[in-house]
Amino acid sequence: MKKLIIAIDGYSSCGKSTFAKHIAARYHYLYIDSGAMYRTVTLYALQQGIITEQGIDEEKLKSSLEHIDISFTFDPATLQSIHFLNGENVEEKIRSIEVSQHVSPVSKLKFVREKMVALQREAGKEGGIVMDGRDIGTVVFPEADLKIFMTASPEIRARRRYLELKEKGIEASLEEIKKNLMERDLIDSTREESPLRQASDAIVLDNSHMTLEQQMEWIDPLIRKLMQS
Ligand code: DC
Repeated sequence: MKKLIIAIDGYSSCGKSTFAKHIAARYHYLYIDSGAMYRTVTLYALQQGIITEQGIDEEKLKSSLEHIDISFTFDPATLQSIHFLNGENVEEKIRSIEVSQHVSPVSKLKFVREKMVALQREAGKEGGIVMDGRDIGTVVFPEADLKIFMTASPEIRARRRYLELKEKGIEASLEEIKKNLMERDLIDSTREESPLRQASDAIVLDNSHMTLEQQMEWIDPLIRKLMQS
């Protein structure tokens, strides 16, 4: 059976990672969260004082990149992915509001993208992967076997993110979350370097009113057909 490369792109908090994790677990594929890589670089930059009120010290960040080692694990049984920054488990820290507020400007930088895209291509080169992000079907794996472009209404996305953070014990208001989502969408889709856009051969999935089960029912036949091709 063919080991596919499945690219899932779309707006923030569309449920891309939940969907991607379930696909990976069902087909015994590796799940790769490309956004977590940008988040990890952002966390490092915050910790090292490279991001301040004045902005990002780009020169310092550029020279620091070689000191940033990003690794990750994915457990299909629990659907848990854990990211490590220089060996430290930073899964919780990279999901904080502070990191969320700074990640889009960091991910706009060409030299950051170049390094992350190289890491992502390396991680996915054997196939048998599901990778989610913003430019997976357009830049990272333009030859991906299956490309999905996910979207959902901003209100529904904000509510999902709010509940997700609440479950983790992270306090944030619905308004603050929605504002952050809209800001990130705007930066992500208007930036010069690999903006978020639908690949011409991507299939759109608006999951505003779909359960996860319905999304799986929708994608299963597509995957099975491609695996046998
Ligand atoms: O998927 P996420 O919300 O964890 O992603 C965090 C940020 O990283 C997002 O605002 C944009 C950026 N990102 C990107 O530029 N390219 C990707 N492939 C994935 C994420």
